[in-house]
Amino acid sequence: MAQVKFDEMIAQKIAQHGLDARLAAVLNALADAITRIEADVRIGPLAGNIGLAGAQNVQGEDQKALDVIADIHVQKALEGVAGVAALVSEELDDVIWLKEPQQGDFLVYYDPLDGSSNLDVNLSVGTIFSIIPVQADGDRNVLHPGRLQICAGYALYGPATTIVLTFGDDVQGFTMDPQTGAFLRSHDAFSVPTDAAEFAINISRYRHLPPGFRAYIDDCLAGKDGPRGRDLNMRWVASMVAEIHRILTRGGVFLYPVDAKTLDKGGRLRLMYEANPMSMIMAAAGGAGSTGWQDIVDVMPQGHHDRVSVVIGSANEVAEVVRYNASYPKNMGSA
Ligand code: F6P
Repeated sequence: MAQVKFDEMIAQKIAQHGLDARLAAVLNALADAITRIEADVRIGPLAGNIGLAGAQNVQGEDQKALDVIADIHVQKALEGVAGVAALVSEELDDVIWLKEPQQGDFLVYYDPLDGSSNLDVNLSVGTIFSIIPVQADGDRNVLHPGRLQICAGYALYGPATTIVLTFGDDVQGFTMDPQTGAFLRSHDAFSVPTDAAEFAINISRYRHLPPGFRAYIDDCLAGKDGPRGRDLNMRWVASMVAEIHRILTRGGVFLYPVDAKTLDKGGRLRLMYEANPMSMIMAAAGGAGSTGWQDIVDVMPQGHHDRVSVVIGSANEVAEVVRYNASYPKNMGSA
């Protein structure tokens, strides 16, 4: 039997869930943008376009040339696609409005090239996206909780290029056939093990962490000699998409908690185009996404570049972190 293509799966899902048929063109346009980004990522050093672009994004981080290029690919792909009301990009200060919003039109949130510091060292990067419908005719509000997402996904530019997509019921993966450029179904339904055998955190931030997180890490490191009674392995790629893809495939937990250093900003990772889509994907695969205190998808954004504390992964492990935090004060570690 022929392998299911990305566009065929989208058509099936739209019919199955009775979704707005215009969503197909939006997601296929995102796949086109991903194809272009992937081509640039593959030849990055040869084209000389992985270095600093000289600009900074709104978070004050240096933009890589490929960040900028990737953002333009997404913008160009979505401009003119029926029903796309607005683009909210990690790389752009302001929301781009493409039409007068009508109820049911699409707000597209995206990080065109996440983990881009990995480009210089030829490691995996990704594109993350999420779609929320406009809530009412003329409503220019883009600040919605993740619960309102109707679909979310990411592309991982790794040894293979894979798009992972959810409409909230299951999570499927489509890998690019480099011969034809087609995205063919490679993963019918990701299922995240309930228990984690691995945790992922930038441990250099340990002393800044809130006490609940420090106690959790202490007990992970104590392994079978500590209260957890079992050993956990640790991984840190420093590329959220790669990290989430590993956890989606074999379980684990990814932590980027708010800490004393990031408290004024609310955390390190972005709510609307990093944490929300990854939480939706993980939940649809049987896992969970929390700030460490509440479900990420319930966090009400105050700004479209808001940051948030992130704990995403195997359901029992995320619940474990929440339990630790409930038993400790919410004050931060040392600054
Ligand atoms: O959002 C940016 C990002 O690169 C993520 O993809 C990644 O998980 C994280 O930052 C890495 O952070 P650090 O530099 O602290 O390891």
